[in-house]
Amino acid sequence: MNIIKVTNNQFQLNTQNTSYVMHNENGVLCHTYYGKRLPDCDHSYMIKRNRYNGDFQSDVSENIPSLDNALLEYPVFGDGGITNPALEVLNSDGTNFADLKVVDFVVHNGKPEIDGLPASYAEDGDNVQTLEIKTVDSFSGVEVSLFYAVFYDYDVITRWVKITNNGENNITLLKALSGNIAFDNHNYDVISNFGTWARERQIERAPLLHTGAVVEANCGSSSHSTNPFLIMAERNTTEHNGEAVGIALAYSGNHKMSANLSRYNVVNLSGGISNDNFRWNLEKGESFSTPELVISFSDSGLNGLSQNFHSIIKNRVCRGIYRDKKRPVLLNLWEACYFNFTDETIKKAADSAADLGVELLVIDDGWFGKRNNDRSSLGDWNVNEEKIKCGLDELCKYVNSKGLMLGIWFEPEMISPDSELIKKHPEWVMQIKGRKPTETRWQLMLDLTNPEVQDFVYDSIANVLKTTNIEYIKWDYNRTMAHIGSTYLKADQMGEYYHRYILGLYNVLERLTTDFPKVLFEGCASGGGRFDIGMLYYTPQIWTSDDTDAVERAEIQYGTSLIYPMSCISAHVSVCPNHQTGRTTSMAARHIFALTGSFGYELAPEKIAENDREYIKNFIKFYNDNFEVFQNGKYYRLSNPKADDYAIFEYVYNNKVIVGLMRLKTHAVNLQTNVKLVGLDENKIYTDKATGKTYYGSQLMNYGLKIMTNGRNNDFYAMMWEFE
Ligand code: DGJ
Repeated sequence: MNIIKVTNNQFQLNTQNTSYVMHNENGVLCHTYYGKRLPDCDHSYMIKRNRYNGDFQSDVSENIPSLDNALLEYPVFGDGGITNPALEVLNSDGTNFADLKVVDFVVHNGKPEIDGLPASYAEDGDNVQTLEIKTVDSFSGVEVSLFYAVFYDYDVITRWVKITNNGENNITLLKALSGNIAFDNHNYDVISNFGTWARERQIERAPLLHTGAVVEANCGSSSHSTNPFLIMAERNTTEHNGEAVGIALAYSGNHKMSANLSRYNVVNLSGGISNDNFRWNLEKGESFSTPELVISFSDSGLNGLSQNFHSIIKNRVCRGIYRDKKRPVLLNLWEACYFNFTDETIKKAADSAADLGVELLVIDDGWFGKRNNDRSSLGDWNVNEEKIKCGLDELCKYVNSKGLMLGIWFEPEMISPDSELIKKHPEWVMQIKGRKPTETRWQLMLDLTNPEVQDFVYDSIANVLKTTNIEYIKWDYNRTMAHIGSTYLKADQMGEYYHRYILGLYNVLERLTTDFPKVLFEGCASGGGRFDIGMLYYTPQIWTSDDTDAVERAEIQYGTSLIYPMSCISAHVSVCPNHQTGRTTSMAARHIFALTGSFGYELAPEKIAENDREYIKNFIKFYNDNFEVFQNGKYYRLSNPKADDYAIFEYVYNNKVIVGLMRLKTHAVNLQTNVKLVGLDENKIYTDKATGKTYYGSQLMNYGLKIMTNGRNNDFYAMMWEFE
């Protein structure tokens, strides 16, 4: 199997169904091709020569009058190109340039780690190789190594860059993206997510124009507003057909993902840490590694592309026992009681949850300090004895005695102005000396660039985990960064703040997940405000949104599924009328759409009506019997819940197929619809478990399921089919 092939100055990287080709043009690394798999042969006829006169037949390339017309693999500021460079290096003489020429390359078996950063990994026996191409600016001594890890079986290539100052003088990086891919085909649509609190990851699709497309966050986290990925699809690409390429960044801080269309119709698709307020000083001998950019191509439409991302993230980004182990059915008490609970009410909830078949009970915000609302105590991570009189350990023992695991909420990166911690350590607050930092939700942020603060955060959580049998931590983060500054860093390091903060966060997460391997960590940031591949390396599931309304969730989970696997998307059934929208939806709608994620509940179990209890017990049993379908099956989006009358999804796992549907719009006359299934075996016979009726795969895929929902009550009627 030829994963990485190097001949005649051409580098060809192959996955099962894709090829990525580059060439070395007199030392300049240029892009040749990325798309459907090519034979291992010479591709030099594809090379786009960089001539100004439009003589595309010419094979002569002695002159490069405009780099906007060149497919550069890693464009550098100051090289003469006009559009979006990937690298900007400020030299000690005040100039901003690096003239990078290829000097060497090496092929590694497997995949090296990236210092201090989360990244995909290869396991023994995986068909993974990594190409490292070394480029050097001989004038300044700056060395830039471009890494390409090729996951053959996953149709994924990941890229990152390591920059080393081998010169005599200090340099400063002003921009260092993780990767850039140049295309000379330009008829693309760009697809991205935008959002807000309670409305995360809405999909937008628009043609790529010469004005370009930029997805960026500069608030310190990957954010509710944008998500660190960008997809470029051919204009006619649909969910099931056509070509699409996607890039997603394994990073939780500021990002910039962009697609740039040059005046000569060259597209540069790039991603990495945002260069806004980014500076990184490199003294002689020092190196800087960028986060990893995960790249995939599919010619099976957007579903095909999503499945590639799902598979690599689920299997080679997520780690720990919960990567493969069944996720427990979780019941979180936040919407049940908010800050208002005692140990007695939690015990009652545990009794009732155990009876339903719930496996993990989670106490959310409000168990510590004197926190009875969101105005105090962040940082005082000792139990609130007025509420939990028996103490956490005893409460945990009680919950465990009912056969349930216990989980607990933390917001470890924060500090309340009304806290004991701030009295002891005012210098630990993220702050600009002499200025009053801005509060958001009555809270300030801790300065995670400071190793002492990192230790404090580690100890706060480790103490609870060491003294109780708590087996789950919800890691929340409820504000954006402001007043970026530190009492710990030096003045010339302030431009490094955002990235140093994220490195501090990863350091703490790495230590905790290593030292407490049995604990399930779940990410959260005011709902889904930090939902990215970086966090998924530590927390295999993330709370997707504070909006638990089934209709809104159908949209949010639909958008999230573009890149992220369903097992990572925490989805809970809550009560009606829904707390965020006031809407009432059927029990079936709420349950079925919580299957497009890691399944759980967000309600007071003891308040559930008797007939609903039976429904829930049966549903949990159904979920447990089929968890592999939801955790490991291929997930397909069959409709667009924002535009269509129905939200419809399908899971396929071995011989099992589960289809879920919710009616979103009620019409006086409901017309019949056929839902065509996908991903089945044409010649196999599928039995509908409920009716015993049998169908050929080809029938279900070509005619489809017949749907006739009637009735005028607008309760968002939902149904599910199970085929085997
Ligand atoms: C925001 C989270 O998204 C909610 O689920 C809840 O944990 C609150 N924070 C608690 O303050």
